[in-house]
Amino acid sequence: MTILITGGAGYIGSHTCIELITASYDIVVLDNLSNSQNTVLDRIKKITKAIIPFENVDLRDTEALEAVFKKYNISAVIHFAGLKSVNESINKPIEYYDNNIAGTINLCKVMHQFDVKKMIFSSSAVVYGNPETVPIKENFPLSTFNPYGQSKLMTEQILNDIFISDNDWQIALLRYFNPVGAHKSGLIGEAPGGIPSNLMPYLSQVAVGKLDKLHVFGGDYDTPDGTCIRDFIHVVDLAKGHVKALDYFKNKKKGEVLTLNLGTGKGYSVLELIHTFQDITGKKIPYDIVDRRPGDIVISYASPELAEKVLSWKAEESLEDMCRDTWRWQSQNPSGYE
Ligand code: NAD
Ligand code: WQD
Repeated sequence: MTILITGGAGYIGSHTCIELITASYDIVVLDNLSNSQNTVLDRIKKITKAIIPFENVDLRDTEALEAVFKKYNISAVIHFAGLKSVNESINKPIEYYDNNIAGTINLCKVMHQFDVKKMIFSSSAVVYGNPETVPIKENFPLSTFNPYGQSKLMTEQILNDIFISDNDWQIALLRYFNPVGAHKSGLIGEAPGGIPSNLMPYLSQVAVGKLDKLHVFGGDYDTPDGTCIRDFIHVVDLAKGHVKALDYFKNKKKGEVLTLNLGTGKGYSVLELIHTFQDITGKKIPYDIVDRRPGDIVISYASPELAEKVLSWKAEESLEDMCRDTWRWQSQNPSGYE
């Protein structure tokens, strides 16, 4: 029985491949390499000694997708593939809906055709919009302000509807908070193309000298130091959450939609992250506090209690670990996988 990992060459997918191999799952990676490079598979091989079958396929290509399901005896899908930039989605809504919605629907059609009814989906804290209180629980109201967020909300809805129509499906909607960090080997990590829009990759590229200065968006928020607060979670902890979700379904057998936050439950401010990164790496991070970034949520952190109760999963890595591991990856690979 093989687990299909869509988007498995990407940042979170590649770390999850390692944890799945370590847990003795057989996997196959499907990726169109639109935001990744296949070098990552060599790196995974270096770490795990395993050769992962790889299919360079776009999710929207039905024939190619069917061929993958014919070739392997797939029992479950972990579905990471998609476009993920909030800003880009505002300028390219058609591309985002086509990739994230049409791609997912195509995947569901082919899964249905091959009687595969187990899916773990990468959702996001973006579905909570601007929460009224924190920590954020799974039953909080959902809302979102951009096509990327809409695509996550719609996909959650589609998967819920599939379950209503057929209660045999086992579906996990995992809502990630802010994934950062890298594998301890320093061999794999986050490698965004172009100028990063997320905080940690920007910060680490300033540290390594690729970018001059970090812009801190807003220093006058109603928080202890005036900057926004986020729930940063180590990508390896996040990856382990996926293994736990697969184990859960394996043991449970019955159909269900599990909706779970994957976060640490701790909020750190943008300035706290910068200072911790400086302390851990000894690198000075030049920064300016500039205007607020439109659309930013002020305070976002998870209640991770449900995931702990249901999956016996808990994030273990500290903010210091996240900074140390990001820096090991960034300093050893200043240009990512190139
Ligand atoms: P990533 O861009 O590194 O990985 C996504 C992978 O999917 C890439 O390798 C890309 O080439 C591939 N892909 C995209 N469209 C495809 C298609 N149509 N067919 C086949 N492959 C395709 O992103 P990531 O950070 O690893 O995120 C993985 C998932 O988690 C995404 O769905 C993202 O929306 C979600 N997520 C990410 C974050 C985050 O901050 N990184 C937070 C919450 C949720
Ligand atoms: C974090 C904080 C910025 C860059 C986004 C998506 C979310 C999820 C994770 C996918 C904010 C500040 C940032 C910079 C800064 N992705 N910042 N200078 O906005 O919490 O979430 O990524 O699902 O859906 O919305 O993450 O890393 O962009 O920002 O000051 O150069 O860092 O203003 O307060 P965010 P982020």
